Amino acid sequence: MDKPLMQVRNVKKYFPVDKGLFGKKTGTVHAVDDISFDVYEKETLAIVGESGCGKSTLGRTLIRLLDATEGTAHFEGRDIFSLSQNELRQLRKEMQIIFQDPFASLNPRMKVSDIIAEPLITHESLGKKEREDRVAELMELVGLRKAYGSRYPHMFSGGQRQRIGIARALALHPKFIVCDEPVSALDVSIQSQIINLLQKLQEQNNLTYLFISHDLSVVRYFSDRIGVMFLGKMMELGPTEEVYRQPLHPYTKFLIAAAPVPDPRSRNQEKLILEGDIPSPLRPPSGCRFHTRCPYVQDICKSKEPEIQQFDGRSVACHFPLV
Ligand SMILES: Nc1ncnc2c1ncn2[C@@H]1O[C@H](COP(=O)(O)OP(=O)(O)OP(=O)(O)O)[C@@H](O)[C@H]1O
Ligand code: SF4
Ligand SMILES: [Mg+2]
Repeated sequence: MDKPLMQVRNVKKYFPVDKGLFGKKTGTVHAVDDISFDVYEKETLAIVGESGCGKSTLGRTLIRLLDATEGTAHFEGRDIFSLSQNELRQLRKEMQIIFQDPFASLNPRMKVSDIIAEPLITHESLGKKEREDRVAELMELVGLRKAYGSRYPHMFSGGQRQRIGIARALALHPKFIVCDEPVSALDVSIQSQIINLLQKLQEQNNLTYLFISHDLSVVRYFSDRIGVMFLGKMMELGPTEEVYRQPLHPYTKFLIAAAPVPDPRSRNQEKLILEGDIPSPLRPPSGCRFHTRCPYVQDICKSKEPEIQQFDGRSVACHFPLV
C-alpha cells in the first residue's frame, strides 16, 4: 500500500424525490453526504454499513455511473467528475464494477463469450481472432472452461455467473474495480471461492478494490482498510485489524458486535445493543446522524455535527470516540 490512486474530497450525491402531487418535489435523499478519503494503489478498501446507508451510491458515483452533486474525485491526477466524453471513455477502461446479483446483471439472451467480448468490441479495435483469444484467456483466468463460451447465463450456477461478471470486468485491464456486494447473493460455500478468486486476480493484475459489503465477517480477512458508513456519512475509516480490535466509533462497535464471530476468543466482547430504526435519509437527524440510536449520546451530539478526528492513520467522526 503506497500512493493514493484515488483522492475523494467532500463528495455528495443527493437524489431529489418527487412522488408528491403533480410531480412536486417532496424532498432530497442525502445518499452520500460530504465524504472524503483516499484509496491506495493495490489495496482493498472495504465499505460497510447497513442497507440504504449509501454504499452503492458512493461506489457508482466514484466511477461516474452517477453524477456527483458536489465534491471532487481525482484518479491518478485527473478530476473524474469533470472529464469530457472522450476522456470518460478512456476512464471506463480503467474503472469497472462487479455487481451483487449475477442473475440480473448478465443479459440472458447473450452467449457467455459475447457477454465477455462486449467491452472489447466497444473499447478495443481487435481482430476477431485476437478477440476470441482474449475471451478464452479471460475465461481461463476466472476458472471457466472455454467450451462454456457458447452457453447462456441461465445454464450456470450463481458462483459461475459471478465468474462471468468478473471476466467481463477484467476484459479491459482495469486498475480500479468497485465490487458491489459481489458475494452477498451466493451460498456461503461459494462465497469463499469467489473471494479467493478476487484475491488471486488482485495479486496477478495489481488491482485496487473498493469492496462494498453489509457483512463484516466477509471483509475482515480480505480487506486492508475498512470504512464504515451510516446514513450517507463515513463514520470511521482505518486499517481493518485495528478497527476490529478497537473500534473508535460507537456504530462500528455495534456492527462488529452484531456480526457472527468465528473466533471464539472474541465472543466475550461487550455487546452494544442499539434501539430504534435507522432514521430516514430524507430527514437525517441534526448534529450526529447516529445520535437517535447511540447509547453514548450527550447533548452536544444532538446539535453539533462531529468533525472528523485523526488518530494515527485512522479517522472517526464522533464527539466522544472510544479511545
Ligand atoms: N436513483 C435513486 N433515486 C432516489 N433515491 C435513491 C436512488 N438510489 C438510491 N437512493 C436512495 O439512496 C440511499 C442510499 O442507497 P444505496 O443503494 O446507495 O444504499 P446501500 O448502502 O447500497 O444499500 P444496500 O445495502 O441495500 O445495497 C437509500 O435511501 C436509497 O433509497
Ligand atoms: S457523536 Fe455522540 S451520538 Fe454520535 S456517535 Fe459519538 S457519542 Fe454517539
Ligand atoms: Mg447497495
